[in-house]
Amino acid sequence: MPGTIVMASPDFYEVAYTINPWMKPDIWAEDREAALARAKAQWGELARALGEAGMTVEVVPAHPGLPDLVFPANAAVVLDGRALLARFRYPERRGEEARFLAFFEELKTRGLLAEVRQMPAGLFQEGAGDCLWDATRDLFWAAYGPRSAAESVAYIRSFFGTEVVGLELATDRFYHLDTCFCVLSGGEIMYYPPALSPASQALVEARVPAERRIVATEDEAGAFSLNAVTIGRDLFMAPPPTRLRRLLEERGYRCRPFDLSAFVLSGGGAFCMTLRLDLASKAGRSRAAG
Ligand code: ARG
Repeated sequence: MPGTIVMASPDFYEVAYTINPWMKPDIWAEDREAALARAKAQWGELARALGEAGMTVEVVPAHPGLPDLVFPANAAVVLDGRALLARFRYPERRGEEARFLAFFEELKTRGLLAEVRQMPAGLFQEGAGDCLWDATRDLFWAAYGPRSAAESVAYIRSFFGTEVVGLELATDRFYHLDTCFCVLSGGEIMYYPPALSPASQALVEARVPAERRIVATEDEAGAFSLNAVTIGRDLFMAPPPTRLRRLLEERGYRCRPFDLSAFVLSGGGAFCMTLRLDLASKAGRSRAAG
């Protein structure tokens, strides 16, 4: 079944400030024009490939002064046609809230969403970047720590009425869950365990049997290989290191590497640059069928 995915125009993208340890405004500033041209080309390649994979790509317009708008994974958590819109930790990104609200309201008008709600003001939660749907287990993995607040976990649970496992992020380097944790379509979890607190590592181990855990190294996570868009067995990602690529291929996945270096310079990869609108819970699917 073809899906719908949101991307956001890179037209005003830049690395202008530092709110995570990956962000390098100095490198960006060395040659802004070339950097932007590279970003646009990289974005275009990813968008085209997702389109060719059967996705309908909905594009959020860019806005001057909001460079990180290009990462719509942080815009909302979406399930069963219902969108819960983010509240950003850093003032640098808060201007995106109104833009995303307008965009999602329009999606609702067009019938692509049934419901749009913002997180309560002041309750930080950075969208799907910190809240990953696990269709195999019919639950969300929802992180808190550097960006999202611990209290957001209970709010997500009550809004969606699904099981939500809260995971504490233990480092600044892996500041969003999607930088260190990836849910694969066959039910495997590919992750970098030390990015999670010991108690949260134990929560993952309790729910995911060892043979379904793909443990990545810090370098593999640092290559943004876990920040992948998964469409069936295809993984759209920044070029993965050889060991990880082999592990994935042995399990029947196909790595689709993209040069996303212009976005890694801001701490983002393929997953951050997208947001799926078509995820569904088991209950949502049976409601739709009945
Ligand atoms: N510069 C952005 C920030 O720090 C990058 C966001 C990447 N998105 C993600 N889902 N990890 O917020």
